Order: sequence, then C-alpha cells, then structure tokens
Amino acid sequence: MLSLKIRLITITFIVTLTAWVLGEAFSAVVGWITALILLSAMLIHQLWHASKLTHLLLSPSYGEVPGALGIWGEIYYRLHKLVRAWRDQVIEVEQQHQRFIQAIQASPNGVVMLNEDDQIEWCNEIAEKHFGINAKRDSKQRMTHILRKPSFVQYITRQNYRDPVRLTGMGNLEELSLDVQIFPYGDKQKLILSQDVSQIEKTDAMRRDFVANVSHELKTPLTVLAGFLETVQELDLSPEDRTKYLDLMGVQTVRMKNLVDDLLTLAKLEGNSEPPVYQTVPMDGMLSRLKFDAEGLSGGKHQILIEKESNLDLLGDDQELYSAFSNLISNAVRYTPEGGKIIVRWSQVGGEAFFCVEDTGLGIPAEYIPRLTERFYRVDRSRSRETGGTGLGMAIVKHVINRHQGELKIESTVGRGSSFYLIFPAQRVVSKVS
Ligand SMILES: Nc1ncnc2c1ncn2[C@@H]1O[C@H](COP(=O)(O)OP(=O)(O)OP(=O)(O)O)[C@@H](O)[C@H]1O
Ligand SMILES: [Mg+2]
Repeated sequence: MLSLKIRLITITFIVTLTAWVLGEAFSAVVGWITALILLSAMLIHQLWHASKLTHLLLSPSYGEVPGALGIWGEIYYRLHKLVRAWRDQVIEVEQQHQRFIQAIQASPNGVVMLNEDDQIEWCNEIAEKHFGINAKRDSKQRMTHILRKPSFVQYITRQNYRDPVRLTGMGNLEELSLDVQIFPYGDKQKLILSQDVSQIEKTDAMRRDFVANVSHELKTPLTVLAGFLETVQELDLSPEDRTKYLDLMGVQTVRMKNLVDDLLTLAKLEGNSEPPVYQTVPMDGMLSRLKFDAEGLSGGKHQILIEKESNLDLLGDDQELYSAFSNLISNAVRYTPEGGKIIVRWSQVGGEAFFCVEDTGLGIPAEYIPRLTERFYRVDRSRSRETGGTGLGMAIVKHVINRHQGELKIESTVGRGSSFYLIFPAQRVVSKVS
C-alpha cells in the first residue's frame, strides 16, 4: 500500500505545485482557479470509479478486471486477486467435501448423520438400503420415525452406545440382519453405523442346527445301545439271546462309527481350501472297485451294470472321488427295491467327462431335489435310518465335486428312478497313456 500513498502524495503535490507556479506566473486568481479545476477533475474521477466499484461489487464477475489508470487500476487489480484467492479456496473445500462423500459412499457400511434432535442430516447409499431411507425425501425426518423397531428405539433413547444392537428382519425381503452402533459427536450430533451381519447370522444358525442334528443322530443309537447293554447286564440270557443282543449292539456301533466317519470326511473337505491334487485316478481300477462294493451292498438283489464308454481318467484326489462315487452307488442300492437295475456309466461329451449312476428305484419328488445336498437332509427319514443312512452322503458328494471344479446334476421321476451325474471339466480329465 506504500506505493498508493506515495502516488496520492505525488498527485496532491503536482496539483499544488501547478497551481502555485501559475499563481506566481500570472496572478493568485489564476492559481486558485487552476487548483479548483484540477481538484474538481480529481473528485469527478474518484466519484466515477467509486460508482463503478459499487456496481462491480453488486454483480461480481470473476474473470474481468476493469482497466483504469493510477490508484484505481491498483485497487481493481488487488480486489480481483483477493476474489480469485477466495474462489480457489472455495473450490478446494468443495473438492475435499466431494472426496469425503465419495469415500463414505464407498464404505461397505451404512452411515447416517443425525442432528441434535435425532433428525437425519445425511446418509450414504448403503444406509438407504439398510434402513429403507430415501435420502432426499427423509431429510430432517426423525430417525425413530423411519426405523421403528422397538430394540432400536430403546437403544437410541437409552444413551448407552458402548455396544452395537443387532436388528434382524431388515430390508425389503426381511432377510437382512444388521449390527447398528451409535457414535455421538460434535454438539449432541450422532453418527449411526450399520454393518450387514446376515452371513454371520446364517452361519450361527447353521452351526446351531448342525450341533442339534449331530446330537440327535447320536442320541438314538446310544439310547438303543444303553438299553441292550442293560438287558445283557441284568437278565440271565441264553447264549443265543446274548449273541443276538451283542449283534444288535454291533449294528448301532457301526451306525455311530459311520456317522463319525462321515462327519470327519465332511470336516476335512470343508476345512481344506486347497484344491485337490492333480493326480491321475485310473478309472478302470475305480470302476471295478465300485462294482465290487455295489454287489456286496446289494447282496444279489439288484442287477448292477458298469458301462464304460470313455477311456478318460480323472485328475484329482483318489480318496475323495471314491467317497463321492460310492455314496451315489450306495444310495442307488439302498433306495431301489429288490429286482431293480442300477447302471454306472463313465462317458464323455467333448472335453468333459460324465460319471452317472442311474437306478430304477423310488425316485425323488422334484421339490426335494435342491435340498438333497444339505447336511442331514433325508427325503424319507425313517427309510433312510432303516438302511443306516445319516443324510451326510450327498453333502460329501457336493463338496467333492465342487472341489474338483465340476457340477452335480440330478434327474428323478417318482416311482421310476433317478439319475445322478457328476460332470468333470476338461482340466480334470486326462486321456489314458497307452
Ligand atoms: N438314488 C436315490 N433314490 C431315491 N432317493 C435318494 C437317492 N439318493 C439319495 N436319495 C435321497 O436323498 C437323501 C440324502 O442322501 P444322502 O446320501 O445325503 O443321505 P443318506 O443316504 O440318507 O445317508 P448317508 O449317505 O449319509 O449314509 C436320502 O436320504 C434319500 O432320501
Ligand atoms: Mg447316501
């Protein structure tokens, strides 16, 4: 601003000097008139620019700088610089705000900001889905008007936000479970965070079901075993009766052992995230082994055919594949009445290999087919139990085929029979080296 002052002093000095020189040269009147004219010109100049500045401030336009000489040029220039600096600051703050919003939008959690009256100030898209909020329509709505669940209303009014509250049955399909926690901030404002815990809830429910199922499956043979044990201990039995009871106890023990074996197999399959090895499994040997087992299980009551239409071998885990194949075959034997036919077919279509077990048995109603691979699921519980089934076999099959990147397909007609296909992708098959 020093230069402005100097300019002002200089102009005043020039005016005074000019008026004094003319006054000295001509007369005092000429000097005064000159001073008056020059000062009036200066005043008009100032007033004109003052009105221009007022106009400019009333309708500021960023880009243009009015041209002017002298002090006013300087004033306009400095004003323009100031406005530009402010505008850059505003733009930067706006950009930061946008980045902040984008970051919160990218969060997998729901975020809702409430004001001091618990009214919605802002929320992200996930929160809109979690709580059914419409950010525009519901702005300034009380949160408890939108989310009326008693557990949430209690939580927000109780004012103890150390732990989250779990809300179930949320979302449009009522299948959503959320952990919701409040974090107070600023001047009585609140931040609500919501996390989708549906999967954790589902896993918890599955674990509870699983424990209940295992206990139930073990309880029956154990009760029977305890009963027989008491009979053998307390009654004076003939050697034949004793043998009969011991045999029956043996059957229950085998049943429990089978259950535990299946559970261990499943646990091993589920716990192993590594894909099975790419070891060649010769299908000639596998099919003869399966035929031998099937005939043993059937005891000559069924016609068992092995149709080998492909020379491909598999690449995978021999033990896992054997448990999957043998479960399909044992099911076919167990759920096909005496005199029925069971065909085990090994074929190929293009690069894919098909292991198919076809039977002329009871068949499965279409609505139950998608549930067969659930653990402990049995279409006819009593029949399955009679034949010693635990309902884990198809779960094992599903795991094994998934681990070998293959697919399980089931076709069945009640009263006519079923076909179970295990389809192996090209990467899991190999041509026999002859
Ligand atoms: N070939 C089939 N024909 C008719 N029903 C079948 C056939 N295969 C499976 N099922 C039905 O599917 C259910 C599930 O089969 P899964 O192999 O998982 O159990 P399971 O045979 O009962 O017992 P497990 O195999 O554990 O000893 C069976 O209980 C049965 O009701
Ligand atoms: Mg089975």
